[in-house]
Amino acid sequence: MIPVILSGGNGSRLWPISRKQNPKQFLPLVGQQTLFQQTIQRLSLEEVSAPVVVCNDAHRFLVEEQLEAINCAPHSILLEPFGRNTAPAVALAAFSILENGQDDVMLVLPADHVIENIEPFHHALKIASAAAQSGEMVLFGITPDKPETGFGYIQTTPSATTENGTLRVEAFVEKPNAEKAQAYLASGDYFWNSGMFMFQASCYLEELKQHEPSIYEKVLSTFQRSRKEDKVLHIDSDIFAHCPDDSIDYAVMEKTTKACVVPLQANWNDVGSWSALWDVHAKDENGNVAKGDVLLEQTSNCYVHGEDRMVALLGLDNVVVVDTKDALMVASKDKVQDVKKLVQAIEKKQ
Ligand code: GDD
Ligand code: MG
Repeated sequence: MIPVILSGGNGSRLWPISRKQNPKQFLPLVGQQTLFQQTIQRLSLEEVSAPVVVCNDAHRFLVEEQLEAINCAPHSILLEPFGRNTAPAVALAAFSILENGQDDVMLVLPADHVIENIEPFHHALKIASAAAQSGEMVLFGITPDKPETGFGYIQTTPSATTENGTLRVEAFVEKPNAEKAQAYLASGDYFWNSGMFMFQASCYLEELKQHEPSIYEKVLSTFQRSRKEDKVLHIDSDIFAHCPDDSIDYAVMEKTTKACVVPLQANWNDVGSWSALWDVHAKDENGNVAKGDVLLEQTSNCYVHGEDRMVALLGLDNVVVVDTKDALMVASKDKVQDVKKLVQAIEKKQ
C-alpha cells in the first residue's frame, strides 16, 4: 500500500501561526514533530511502502527537509504550481503510481490530523487494505459527538456488512448545513468522514473519469506535460490552471457506488481550528491551554499562545488569544471557524 500525503492546504483557520509560507501541516502544533512528520511516522507497518507527497511548489524544500529529519525516502514528491483541491491532487498521485506499472492500493492521508491510538488505526488499515484490493473505495468513519458542519457525513446500516467486514454506505453528504448535521447526529446512523481514503489507483481514476470527466482529462494532460527531476515531479501549470477546483468528497465519494466504511476508534482529531487544538491539548484545572509566558486570572476554557512577551488574561471565558511577532489575534472560541475570513480580509487589504 502506498500512502499519499496531501499537504497542499493553507491552514488559514490557524492564522496567525499558520501562514501561506509555513502552513499548519509543517508546524509542530502537537508534540515535537510537525503534523506532516507525524502523519508519516504513524505508518510504521510492514505493508506500507514509501509515501507520495503532493504539495505546493513553494513548500518543496520544507517537505524535503522534514522528510530527511525523520529518515524518510519518499516514493515521489509532486509539486503543484497552485492548489486545485483534493480531487486533482489524488488523481496526480494515482497517475504517478500507475506510471510505475503497478496498480497499487493508495492510502490517502491529510497531513494535518492527530491520531492518538496507533493500534486501532493500524487494525483499520489492515481491514481496509483487503477491501480496497477487491475494488471497494474505503472511507474511515469516526463516531460523531457534535453536529460539526465542517465534515462529511456517511450514512451506514450497521447490519449491512460486506464480505470484507466493512460497512456499506447508504449515503455520503459532504459538509451539511447545521440543521442536517444535528439530525444526522441524533439519528445515530452516521459516521464523520475522517478524510482518509483507501482504493486502488485505477479504481479512483475510473470513478473520477465517470463522475468528473473534465477533472480526469485535465489532470491526465497535465501529468503528461509535467517535468520529472529524480523523485520530484514539477506539475505543469498550463492545463492545470483550467482544471476544475473540487474536493475528492464532492467529485467522487458522494457519487460512487463503491464506497464502504471501516470504523476508526483511535481518538482522531482534524486539527482544523483553534478550538480543535484546544481539544487535543492537556488543560489546567480551569480548562485553559496556555503556551509561552502566560498569566491567567479568573479565566477558563481559553487557548492562549504567547511568543516574545507575556500575555495576561483576566476574567475571560472561551476565548482564543494568539500573539505572534507581527500579529495578535483575539477571538471567541465558538467563532474560530471564521478565522479564515480574517485572513481573506487581510489578503484583500494588501
Ligand atoms: N496537494 C494538495 N493540493 N493538498 C490539498 C489541497 C490541494 O489543492 N487542498 C487541500 N489539501 C490537503 C490539505 O492540506 C489537507 O491535508 C487535506 O488535503 C484535506 O483538505 P482540507 O481542506 O483540510 O479538507 P476539509 O478538512 O475541509 O474536509 C475533508 O476532511 C474532513 C475531515 O477532516 C473532507 O474529506 C471531509 O469530508 C472530512 O470530514
Ligand atoms: Mg481539514
